[in-house]
Amino acid sequence: MAATHAAAFTQARPWSAEEFAALLEQRFCHVEGDRDCFALFRVIADEAELLTIATHPHALRQGRAKACMSRWHERAQELGATYAVLEVAADNGPARALYAGCGYVQSGRRTGYYPRPDAAACDALMMTCNLSRG
Ligand SMILES: CC(C)(COP(=O)(O)OP(=O)(O)OC[C@H]1O[C@@H](n2cnc3c(N)ncnc32)[C@H](O)[C@@H]1OP(=O)(O)O)[C@@H](O)C(=O)NCCC(=O)NCCS
Repeated sequence: MAATHAAAFTQARPWSAEEFAALLEQRFCHVEGDRDCFALFRVIADEAELLTIATHPHALRQGRAKACMSRWHERAQELGATYAVLEVAADNGPARALYAGCGYVQSGRRTGYYPRPDAAACDALMMTCNLSRG
């Protein structure tokens, strides 16, 4: 997971293997996917939160992230979630298109949330999806 995350995330700091291991020890955290594409998410009561999703650069645009989103949504519903939330950088076009296609709508904005090394900080968009609508 750490290797795929590091290959996929070029703008943000990738998460280490130790950080993934610590998250996966938490009882509310779950993972769906495989070596090439995975989603890490948390379910607490009726709310599911996508913590991260990544597709390895050699496996992009093959429908893996879309399939992974469907799988983790299904699993979150089995665990009791009725809606899902996430945050995405406003300048992350591929992720925003992915989430829009999966039924997410914008619910808020955090101005200047993501620092950028050679540019102005980027806003975070908060998004939500009603899981019971499929
Ligand atoms: C976002 C990401 C997970 C998409 O992975 P992927 O496996 O290539 O996505 P899919 O092939 O399943 O594409 C599903 C949809 O996402 C959108 N999409 C994916 N890549 C896109 C791109 N480069 N440009 C525009 N839309 C894109 C499209 O709507 C696509 O549907 P379509 O193929 O029918 O047009 C991948 O680009 C990635 O790992 N990015 C870096 C990490 C990241 O930004 N994660 C999200 C943080 S919030």
